[in-house]
Amino acid sequence: MRLGLIGCGGIARNRHLPALEKLQQVGRDRDVELVAVADTVDQNRELAADWSAEHLGRRPTPFVGYHEMLASGTVDAVDICLPHGLHHVAGIDAFRAGCDVILEKPFTVTMQTGRALVEAGAKAGKVLALAVPMRRMPGERAANWAINDAHLIGDPRAFFCHDVRPRTAPQRRPQAAATPAAGGERRPVRENWRADRLMSGGAMVVDSGFHFMDSIRMLFGEVDHVYAELRGFRPDGTNTVREGRENTALVTFTFASGVVGSWTWSAGLTGHAASSIIIYGSGGSLSDTGTHSQYAVYHLFMNGGELKTSDGETLTLDELKERYLASLSPEQRDRVFPGGLTDEFAIELHDFFEAVRTGTQPEVNGEEGLKTLALPLAVYESGYTGQAVKIADVLSGKAHAYQDEIDAHWPL
Ligand SMILES: NC(=O)c1ccc[n+]([C@@H]2O[C@H](COP(=O)([O-])OP(=O)(O)OC[C@H]3O[C@@H](n4cnc5c(N)ncnc54)[C@H](O)[C@@H]3O)[C@@H](O)[C@H]2O)c1
Repeated sequence: MRLGLIGCGGIARNRHLPALEKLQQVGRDRDVELVAVADTVDQNRELAADWSAEHLGRRPTPFVGYHEMLASGTVDAVDICLPHGLHHVAGIDAFRAGCDVILEKPFTVTMQTGRALVEAGAKAGKVLALAVPMRRMPGERAANWAINDAHLIGDPRAFFCHDVRPRTAPQRRPQAAATPAAGGERRPVRENWRADRLMSGGAMVVDSGFHFMDSIRMLFGEVDHVYAELRGFRPDGTNTVREGRENTALVTFTFASGVVGSWTWSAGLTGHAASSIIIYGSGGSLSDTGTHSQYAVYHLFMNGGELKTSDGETLTLDELKERYLASLSPEQRDRVFPGGLTDEFAIELHDFFEAVRTGTQPEVNGEEGLKTLALPLAVYESGYTGQAVKIADVLSGKAHAYQDEIDAHWPL
């Protein structure tokens, strides 16, 4: 399988490339070879190619624009690590070039662009996989097992995820340095593309928040509706929420199962800090004890946890991981932690390669990506309109007010 990497920025170089090395080290996916990398920024592209030469045993051909890579006919599959707004653009182009595709979260920027991507994959008959890492980590796998397989807290009833982390220093203002336009974007990608709603789809609700949404769907099933209040509190007294730059969210999730949950966080206020992440069931609770991390409210069960049952038993997350692993057959264990790897990026890439190799579906395919994307978009739709929003209405396209301006920027 001749693999091309599209986008050689932070996540590609820090995690995707080392994940390929880890797979090599445990003797997995020997049939996969990174043959090409593409990035419009010279330094990023060359660093990726040089690193690969040293660590993967071959220097991939560097391309400036991914179009040239696709047109070269040298790749069978691509790993897309581009700014959010370019995921569907590059993904659709890759399907048209006959490639299988794995792409980074948060899938795409709107339901319309997401559906176009899924349709292009189906039309090409190719694999579409979403690289969501948190669910692949031992902590979340163990939490999922404790709740849904071992039923250690009874029937899940409610969760309260809260994090207020006061701003201590003025936030860095984004510099609008333009990178050269290439490969399908309709205007230059700003270096700080995350501050541009048309390119990012929004701020933390859809960015790191996408991890949280994927996790709660795994843990509690489908969401019926959400209600959200969003704010973008800035030191100068302005509110940047309308530009899609929220730094404060108060969200309630109501699940089809009846589970209710609150997700409330802010990085835009001053004063007292507070953080608490707890899931309650009819027979106990499961807390995330890693709340020293500013990402705990997005990345669940990465840094510890504690389960308390109503009959007085207490188990740490490490003990839950042990029990979970003991519950798996060797085959099951190798499927979720191939070759004993616990690196979440290696696991998601391996899952993609297996799907391509065997013609099966990856753990998180395009349909699943769309269902998860509907959650952060429902949060934005609710924040935008002031109304509770049904997930079914986001999925069907009925609720779209927030997404209209973004869709207008990305004609299909
Ligand atoms: N899974 C995670 O935990 C995680 C963490 C961080 C980022 N991400 C995701 O990874 C993706 C990239 O994020 P990042 O932090 O690496 O961003 P980044 O800005 O560091 O990297 C993006 C790269 O894409 C390049 N690029 C832009 N337009 C291009 C084009 N047309 N053709 C080729 N290259 C182009 C840029 O030059 C840059 O090197 C995003 O989807 C983000 O959400 C995931």
